Amino acid sequence: MGPGWYDYENMTVDWNVPDRYEIVRRIGGGRYSEVFEGVDSSNEDPCVIKVLKPVARKKIKREIKILRNLTGGPNIIRLMDTVHDEHSRSNSLIMEYIENSDWKEVYYNLTEMEIKHYLFQLLTALDFVHSRGIIHRDVKPANIMFDRARRKLRLIDWGLAEFYHPGVELHIRVASRYFKGPELLVGYKHYDYALDIWSTGCIMAAMLFRRENFFRGRDNDDQLLKIIKVLGSDDFERYLAKYGLYLQTYDDELVQSHAKVPWSKFVTADNRHIVSTDALDLLDKLLRFDHAERLTAAEALAHSFFSTSCPYLLLGTAHSCSS
Ligand SMILES: Nc1ncnc2c1ncn2[C@@H]1O[C@H](COP(=O)(O)OP(=O)(O)OP(=O)(O)O)[C@@H](O)[C@H]1O
Ligand SMILES: [Mg+2]
Repeated sequence: MGPGWYDYENMTVDWNVPDRYEIVRRIGGGRYSEVFEGVDSSNEDPCVIKVLKPVARKKIKREIKILRNLTGGPNIIRLMDTVHDEHSRSNSLIMEYIENSDWKEVYYNLTEMEIKHYLFQLLTALDFVHSRGIIHRDVKPANIMFDRARRKLRLIDWGLAEFYHPGVELHIRVASRYFKGPELLVGYKHYDYALDIWSTGCIMAAMLFRRENFFRGRDNDDQLLKIIKVLGSDDFERYLAKYGLYLQTYDDELVQSHAKVPWSKFVTADNRHIVSTDALDLLDKLLRFDHAERLTAAEALAHSFFSTSCPYLLLGTAHSCSS
């Protein structure tokens, strides 16, 4: 799509004055920002004010460029303004506000329809993003705003997102531990869009099996171990061999042999009613060590999981499944 699309370092940002936005309450924040619910006093519309911490200019520009490129896309959070406050010398992004249902309150009681709806909307966003050369690199429930009552989903937090250039190495210190793909955990720098698919698979497993987080490691090595203990060491070794990777570790358990656990083993009395054969088949095709084997977002959207009892009644948007 050319340098005008991806050359964020040479982009100029017009910082407007922040006077029309008022803070209502703090709703979040982390390493890179403080996030507030706000109101646009010119029309009384709610908004989100993401006050950026003074990190590298380059990182701020990348987030803005990516948000500008993607704003208007399906289920992508809308960037409405960029403002600079002289007094506090802070820069903020003004975005669409979503009434988010807390993951801790929803993961254990989603219906099968809601799971289909959630994943369909998330994959629709990812299909759009990936087809435009961008990897999100931090897909996790805290970065997916889901208004359960209105069935609205938006992918947020483009702070770690990056443009994909074939052959160019990427940083592996991205994503949040429980959602890190094997490529990050073994230090493979030529990863691609399939990283977001792994994270989506982790979310799908959490929803289906009703666990807050499906792979829950104490640190990166333990995270890899948790994955190997499910997908099995045979597939892991095949993956390392295919890409000529060598695992540097002091953790003996990582190099021991672990049998692959069939997905059906995670079906319990508690989740049986929401787990179908189609669901396990799709999950299996998202959670593969080898990123090249994982379905793309477009392929996942075409999976029969979404065509049986299609949740079209829940959608009410243009982005619905076909049957
Ligand atoms: N548009 C929005 N609507 C509702 N809540 C939002 C919105 N944007 C952000 N939030 C809330 O603020 C939190 C932090 O926002 P965001 O992830 O963009 O910031 P961050 O500093 O990059 O985060 P982190 O370092 O925690 O990943 C989100 O997890 C969410 O709870
Ligand atoms: Mg975040």
